[in-house]
Amino acid sequence: MVRLSVNINKVALIRNSRGANFPDLIKVAQDCEKFGAEGITVHPRPDERHVRYADLEPLKRVTKTEFNIEGYPSERFLNLVCQVKPDQCTLVPDPPEALTSNTGWDTNQHQAFLRRVVKQLQAEGIRVSLFLDPRPELIESAQSTGTDRIELYTGSYALNFSQDKKEAVTPHRITAQHAQAAGIGINAGHDLNLENLSYYAQEVPGLLEVSIGHALIVDALYMGYEKAIGRYLDMLR
Ligand code: PXP
Repeated sequence: MVRLSVNINKVALIRNSRGANFPDLIKVAQDCEKFGAEGITVHPRPDERHVRYADLEPLKRVTKTEFNIEGYPSERFLNLVCQVKPDQCTLVPDPPEALTSNTGWDTNQHQAFLRRVVKQLQAEGIRVSLFLDPRPELIESAQSTGTDRIELYTGSYALNFSQDKKEAVTPHRITAQHAQAAGIGINAGHDLNLENLSYYAQEVPGLLEVSIGHALIVDALYMGYEKAIGRYLDMLR
């Protein structure tokens, strides 16, 4: 069973555009869980244009399923994550000015750094996932960091899905097979939507969790959260 973690960054973006606490991010997180979400994901960025650092503690308190914090492991980020202690922390190599995450770690180049960070988070009882491009040759160095999971970056899959879905998913399937063999759990995310999700979940062996924000929130503007989450869950079952 693949878990659906709903990324609520876009809800925070709408809230922040007006300065008041509306929509209330905490209520949205609770409602998403009520409507079937199996996890809540947030990605605080240094300029706090989406979720704010101050949102993390209250979100952790109310999340009953699984709380996942994504981000670049700066000192500030790591201190906060160690204080909040989410269930999972997904490490992403995005620079502060990035519009959105658009590449995974080079686990060869950053192996020593990642090993240190993974150890620090695991010592606090936090499961660690590394955002990774679908390149099987990275699995060996990812494994040597001690990470529990990888999150496969699905941007290129989503981009190429309509042209040739089999070709688009192949590097993901092969990387997932290598990860499974190395004892690493597999998450995935970025640009997944109602069209491309079900094929991905069928084709990628051992997929444990997807985190979906942009498309799900846009769909919820049309359908409401309850129906949108229900539709995404249908795609995974
Ligand atoms: N995974 C990571 C590491 C991300 O940075 C994001 C976007 O914040 C997502 C997954 C979700 O991507 P999307 O918003 O396109 O569903």
